[in-house]
Amino acid sequence: MKETVVSGIRPTGKLHLGNYFGAVKNFVKMQYDYNCYFFIADLHSLTTHPTPGDLHGYVKHVLVEYLACGINPEETTIYIQSDVPEVAELYLYLNMNAYMGELERSASFKDKIRSQSDNVNAGLLTYPTLMAADILIHKATKVPVGKDQEQHLEMTRTFGNRFNRMYKTDLFPESYAFNYQENLVKVPGLDGKGKMSKSSGDGSCIYLSDSPEVIRKKVSRAVTDAGPTEENQPKPEAIQNLFDLMKIVSPADTMAHFDGLYNKCELRYGDFKKQLAEDMILFNTPIREKIEEISKDTSYLRQVAKHGALKARESAQKTIKEARELIGFKSF
Ligand code: ADP
Ligand code: TRP
Repeated sequence: MKETVVSGIRPTGKLHLGNYFGAVKNFVKMQYDYNCYFFIADLHSLTTHPTPGDLHGYVKHVLVEYLACGINPEETTIYIQSDVPEVAELYLYLNMNAYMGELERSASFKDKIRSQSDNVNAGLLTYPTLMAADILIHKATKVPVGKDQEQHLEMTRTFGNRFNRMYKTDLFPESYAFNYQENLVKVPGLDGKGKMSKSSGDGSCIYLSDSPEVIRKKVSRAVTDAGPTEENQPKPEAIQNLFDLMKIVSPADTMAHFDGLYNKCELRYGDFKKQLAEDMILFNTPIREKIEEISKDTSYLRQVAKHGALKARESAQKTIKEARELIGFKSF
């Protein structure tokens, strides 16, 4: 029996190179070796109150982009979270045994109190129970996510074990963060600091759907400095970030060539950025072309979403049936 893997991405916009190299690339590799459920976490994204039009558009972007990156709906269950109401039902049950103190101590909740103090809703507080429901509903044991999600997985284990203890069962297995084959890369942004992230603005991100012109423009505007003044000097963050991006999209000898020039104080940022942009375009083009093709095919998208929802619900309904009986919801 293959082990079960679950992971999801919140639909908050188009996917960028960070999402690809930090998550989706791994999903694609895993799909043949595990029983995978990859979903679009649209319930989670309600905490930020998207408009109905934006929400629908973002869900479509992620679905199209999952497919364009190579997630195969014949091998893997791809579904939209809100199509599986059993997830919301399990979330309710888990919430009854999730305590205010532990939810308030979660690092992501504390961050949100700081970053969106005008909208600290109950959905944010219970984000970890919804995430636990996503994972436990399929009894997954492996969850491919980045370091920032480890605390959520620890809480998932706590909630699952608590349910098991309370109802004297072994319904829910423990799940752990999982890196497949290689260490996950952290993709830096173009704005000179930190990782590529939608929250840092469009200028920081190269989206999988960006056209060559857009990529050239964004890379040409990336933050640099006046250039090195001493041979072999350490690179400041903004420059190191561009080299890290080159390492991801360019051949090793291209990267070594520009690194050598930097170390000899002979690097012209204009040439360096042109090469980086062209290599990003080479990487992006096949995915962008697939995105364009798939996004026009509404009947295919409808069929994929429907097929995924059916498969996900089949697994979710089994778990919910068992949970309901354990809790004491039984027919007379
Ligand atoms: P964003 O920061 O743009 O809102 P999300 O937080 O929605 O992106 O990330 C979705 C997935 O992509 C997560 O699994 C996350 O670990 C991964 N990811 C996002 N940005 C990066 C990055 N710059 N480098 C590596 N992985 C990333
Ligand atoms: N919290 C995850 C993130 O922000 C998204 C997510 C929601 C998720 N539910 C999940 C990831 C279940 C893995 C499993 O990236």
